[in-house]
Order: sequence, then structure tokens, then C-alpha cells
Amino acid sequence: AATSMQPMSESSSAYRRIRQYADVKWDELGFGLVPTDHMYIMKCSKEDRIFTRGELKPYGNIEISPCSGVLNYGQGLFEGLKAYRKRDGNILLFRPEENALRLQMGAKRMCMPSPSLDQSMLSSKQFLLTNVPPPGKESMYIRPLLIGTGPVLRLEPAPECTFITCAPPVGNYYKEGSAPLNLVIEEVIHRATPGGAGGVKTISNYAPVLKAITCAKSRGFSDVIYLDSVKRNILRKSLHGNIFICNFLRGNWISTPPTQGTILSGITRKSIIDIAIDHGYQVQERAIEVEELIHADEVFCTGTAVVVAPVGTGTISMKLHSILTGIQTGLIADKMGWTVEL
Ligand code: COI
Repeated sequence: AATSMQPMSESSSAYRRIRQYADVKWDELGFGLVPTDHMYIMKCSKEDRIFTRGELKPYGNIEISPCSGVLNYGQGLFEGLKAYRKRDGNILLFRPEENALRLQMGAKRMCMPSPSLDQSMLSSKQFLLTNVPPPGKESMYIRPLLIGTGPVLRLEPAPECTFITCAPPVGNYYKEGSAPLNLVIEEVIHRATPGGAGGVKTISNYAPVLKAITCAKSRGFSDVIYLDSVKRNILRKSLHGNIFICNFLRGNWISTPPTQGTILSGITRKSIIDIAIDHGYQVQERAIEVEELIHADEVFCTGTAVVVAPVGTGTISMKLHSILTGIQTGLIADKMGWTVEL
């Protein structure tokens, strides 16, 4: 991957890293773990539980106490954000502050200290010389992780927390590429309940739904729609993101369930709502009944990893997808001020 960030001497470590990633088969990237050469790691001190200085280290395993809060009680959060390379070689991070803020909010809920906004931004920027794919070849997925690494036996917050960021280059999330999604409604397994942590990106929201997605995949479906755990005929979200339905009979309506503390406030969700309004659609956050799926003109899902994925055919979702990725890759002017250019 070439870069036009700054002139580099051939002996500089940045130059060597870029050479190393020139070998990635960019056209064959899926959403798998392409080995990366570095990770960013920062620990908070046990005494004042404040993050001070992180370091960029070779990517590898970390040592962790078998009694750590994360291993025993699931005290952990993760984030996901993307960086794209523009045609001119510069790099665009998409709404990194939103992820940093969401991490801080989640950390409060999970009783963990969190990195400052500047520290989160810095951790993401550490990777931008290395494996951001060339223009037009998908993106780099930055995965910050905040976990309770200190040992505990009693159920209490871990005395030490660690913030780690890795950043593999990724392509399409779904193996089917950009083919339409094929969703199934999950009626038995619920993802979140009122008062729980469904609105937070905690690691403990993910393993309990593996059973639903594994079962759905074995039946040929690509994703699962979860229902409201109380009103069981109301849609909540898909496994990988948020769900939208479109109705064009009486106006240009696009609807999505309100987050209400049980759905993660997706950054792609927010962005699509704003883009849709800006392009003349009327957007409603409202309770959507299962039956409405049958009558909807279009249904689509959004998420950082899945971007905007149509269910069946999707003219509007394809339009919203191309506007969003146009902004993310610098092909469309970013009048919202969402991207950070490096
Ligand atoms: C993301 O879209 O960033 C997510 O966290 C979804 C994850 C299951 C890959």
C-alpha cells in the first residue's frame, strides 16, 4: 500500500511496515484476522485507575491473570471503527470521537476507567501508516478493547484495566460479499432486556447470541433479527447492527427502532439517519411490528462492519450505502464534518 502522508526514507520503520503490507491480497480480503504487526496497549494504574501512557508493541498474546475480571465476570467492552484511504493517499478516520465517547459511556456502566478522548484518538492513529488498504480496496477496521485485567474473586470491579487496540485490514463482512441478506427472526433467544446492558458494547452481549447465529447459519440465513423481549412482536435489531424499513406508499418514510437502552446506538445508524434526512427522506424512530417486514418496500441493516446491507433487493439502501462510503472514502464532500483526515 503506497502512502502520500510524508516522504519517508527507505530505512524508516514506517516504510518497512508499508512494504510488508504490500503483499496483502487486497481483492480477497474478507472480514478475517489478517495478521497485523502491531497493537497499542495501555494499562491504568492500580492506585488511581487513570490511563497515562500507552505503547505500540509487536502484535502478540498478552499475559493475563486467570482470576481477571474479564475472564471470570465478563468485564469488558469493545469498539469498532474504520479508516479508509483516499485517492490522494491520505487517510480518513470515520467519526472516531463518537467511538471514543461511546467507550467512555460504556466504561461507566461496566465500572471501568476509560481512556480520554485524546488517548482513544491517539491509539487509532498509531496504525494509520501500516495496513490501511489502497484506495478503493475496502478499509482498516480498528478494534479498541477495554478489559478488566486485575484479579478478583469477589464480584467487584477489577483493580486494573487494560486498553488494547488492534487494526486488521478488512473487506466485506458477509462471505456472500455484497449479495442481499437473508434474515431469520429469532423468537426464543433474546439479546437484551430493559435495565440490562443491551445499549452498551460490552463483550458480554455477544457470546450469548452465538447460539442463535450458529443455528441460523446452519439453516442458510446470513443474520438474525432479535425481537423485543417484552413485546414479542416488535423488532429490535439484527445481530450485526441496526435494522431499517422503508415505506414509500404515503411519503418517503424510513423507520428504525428507537434505542431505548436495549439497542446499541450505532454510529452507522446515526449517520444513515442524518444522510437519509439530508436526501429528502422522512425518518422515524418508532416501534416496528414484525408484520411490517412483509409490507415494507425495503429492509436493510447497518453497522460498522456490515456498512449498509440490503435484505433482498434494495435501491434505497444501495443509494445510502454509496453516499456513506463516498463520504468515508473522500469521494463525496463531507459537509457533516464526520471524517478526520491524516
Ligand atoms: C461492528 O460492526 O463493528 C461490530 O461490532 C459488529 C461485530 C459483531 C463484528
